[in-house]
Amino acid sequence: MRSEIWSRRAFLRLCGVVGTAAYAAKAGGLERVETASQSVADRPPMEVAKDEFYWREIQLAFKLDRSLINLNNGFTCPSPRVVLEAVFRYMDMINMLPVHYQGQVAANVQTVRRRMAAEFGCDPEELALTRGASEALQIVQNGIDLKAGDEVITTEQDYPRMLTTWDQRMRREGIKVTRLQFPVPTTQDDLYQRFEKAITPRTKVFHFCHITNLTAQLFPVQRLSRLARSKGIITIVDGAHALGHFPFKLRDLECDAYGVSLHKWLLAPIGNGCLYVRRESIPKFWPLQAAPEQQDGDIRKFEAIGTHPWAIRAALGEALAFHQAIGAERKAARLRYLTLRWANALKVHPRVKVLTNLAEPAQAWGVAAVFIDGIDVRALARFLMNKYRIIVVPLVGGAPPNSVFDYQALRVSPNVYTTLEEIDTFVTAMDDAVKNGVPEDQSQADDALLDGFDLVER
Ligand SMILES: Cc1ncc(COP(=O)(O)O)c(C=O)c1O
Repeated sequence: MRSEIWSRRAFLRLCGVVGTAAYAAKAGGLERVETASQSVADRPPMEVAKDEFYWREIQLAFKLDRSLINLNNGFTCPSPRVVLEAVFRYMDMINMLPVHYQGQVAANVQTVRRRMAAEFGCDPEELALTRGASEALQIVQNGIDLKAGDEVITTEQDYPRMLTTWDQRMRREGIKVTRLQFPVPTTQDDLYQRFEKAITPRTKVFHFCHITNLTAQLFPVQRLSRLARSKGIITIVDGAHALGHFPFKLRDLECDAYGVSLHKWLLAPIGNGCLYVRRESIPKFWPLQAAPEQQDGDIRKFEAIGTHPWAIRAALGEALAFHQAIGAERKAARLRYLTLRWANALKVHPRVKVLTNLAEPAQAWGVAAVFIDGIDVRALARFLMNKYRIIVVPLVGGAPPNSVFDYQALRVSPNVYTTLEEIDTFVTAMDDAVKNGVPEDQSQADDALLDGFDLVER
């Protein structure tokens, strides 16, 4: 009731603030999102998180297939329409005369670097734009000098591709890789102590996720980075799921390098990522493609990849504008609200277990993992798809080079465009599974959608 009152008040204020002409701006356009945000600016994000009138404006900004309920936003997310339109615009322009326009767009992308750095809290000279987190992280993983016997400490719940990258160096150069196990959910202290205890005189690198792609376990990045620095160890952080998902500033993490997928939570066009490297650490890493010596300390050395689609990179600017139009705090609060809505509804069942720490506000936002005791998670995922057209990822530990972990769960990840009806359908579907079980023969499931592409090696 309260939110309904707020909604009406917000609507009236919104019309008052901008007038009818501006409000008639194209539905789903950036102006509409900005105007809606302006109308709720004086209210705390946790309250706006419940305002369906506001979130309706955000939902309208996307062109989606609503015949499926997408609760796998830990994969690659749809971009808002304005972002996709920007890709087409830049592509059209470059294609007219690539020899002329490609260089112009490339030069203009410096503006995107500057804005990204300002939003995410680092110097523009510390931020390289890449094609994704795999590229960003592999630049630094493969770019650091290590000798046979030197040691990397990482975890069994790190991303398979990143683990494979260290494995390849192990096979090629004889480095040692220690993969730590940890229970989920666990505490920041526990994770800190596991890394601290594993240090040896040969430890040269710490590599871990800011939040994991499995249960969204949050790591104490700043504390681990300080510990590492005090012992001359380099810290590489996998931020694929963190940047654009919840608010923080890169420089506050104090790590040496941080790789991100921008086509996840920032909703950038597919093929965008970034690599933050602390200014004094830039010369410690070789680039992916060779660069002249005078570029040793230049962040741009990490960006050289030959000819590539600049339209994708230029449109990152639009994705950032969309993120800013909602506001990082409001976005994180809404993601947390959606997660708590399904988790609180389901946890009344004694057989339902959530493997993500939802009790503390600064520990979980749009990603959480859940299982039903006694039901195989693959069968459950197929049931959700067959009967309810819901897409979630079954998390099942693999064998090296993939992540090895001893639990099974569904990863559930809504996004800013997810409706309450979609969340409630998921709750109904899980209730159904708890009460009635799931059928054995489910050959109709579209397994490709449930494969958890981002969990396995590729
Ligand atoms: C934790 C983690 N790291 C790295 C990656 C790789 O990201 P990208 O696909 O952008 O290369 C992913 C992708 O899902 C991920 O979840």
